[in-house]
Order: sequence, then C-alpha cells, then structure tokens
Amino acid sequence: MSSDIDELIEKYRQARGGLIPLLQETQELKGFLSRETLEKIASGMNLSLAKVVGVATFYHQFHLEPRGKYIIRVCMGTACHVRGAADILAAMEKELGVRVGDTTPDLTFTLEQVACLGACGLAPVIMINEDTHGKLTPDQVPEILAKYRQKTAVIH
Ligand code: FES
Repeated sequence: MSSDIDELIEKYRQARGGLIPLLQETQELKGFLSRETLEKIASGMNLSLAKVVGVATFYHQFHLEPRGKYIIRVCMGTACHVRGAADILAAMEKELGVRVGDTTPDLTFTLEQVACLGACGLAPVIMINEDTHGKLTPDQVPEILAKYRQKTAVIH
C-alpha cells in the first residue's frame, strides 16, 4: 500500500544527500520519527538501518519519540536565570508531572529548556509553540497551562 512516506521516499530516492531533507519532511508529516518509519526509510533509500538511525540521532532537530501538541520552551539563558527561570521550570515540571525533555502521556505538552529566546527584556520568558509569555512568576504557570488544555479540549 502506498503512503505519504512512500511518496517522499520516491521524491528523494535519487537525490544526492537526500536523507536529511527526507527525514525533515517525514518528521513534519508524522510529528516524530518512529522506529517503523526509520526502517521504512532505510529500506526505501537502500541504506542500512544503522546509517539512518545514526543520522536521525546525530541531529538535534530530529525526534525519535512522540512530541506534544504544544512544545513549551523555558528559557534558561542568563537574563532569565537571574530572574527565576529555575522556579518557572520547577513549576512546569510539577504542574505537568514530567521532567524537562519529556512529553505528557496524553501528548499535550512537551517540556524543553533553551538557552535564550531573544526576549531578555521580558525575563523570565517561555514560549508555547509560537506564543511568548514573559515576566512570569511560578504561580502563573497553572493558569497558563489550563488555557492550552482548554484549547485542546475545544479542538477534540
Ligand atoms: S535569556 Fe531568556 S530570553 Fe534571553
């Protein structure tokens, strides 16, 4: 049975250096690169699975586990650090029940930390997908997360 991944493989099969763009587009399509997907790409591209897994794990942009609908990036850069970013991160971990780097079991949120979001004047800052939330205090965290949970509830 032909699938979207087969079409992408077809597109990149002959291309020199086609593996990375193929992985990128597949990830855009699927959200993450499962073992099954990597196997399919390896066989379609006539590469060893080890080679494909090696590339997918080398580049930080590729995700081998499912990711949340909302990606929360907590800034831990200097400006945010001195203004209490660690407390924001701790509040996030507590409220979500996951550690940084992890995704909630319902796949709603993935929690990450980053170096600087380029909005130091708003420290401490987080981003949730494309939305920036600045001058945060830990006690605002439950309320912010509740808004995104509500959005998800409306969509489903
Ligand atoms: S240090 Fe946090 S936005 Fe720059």
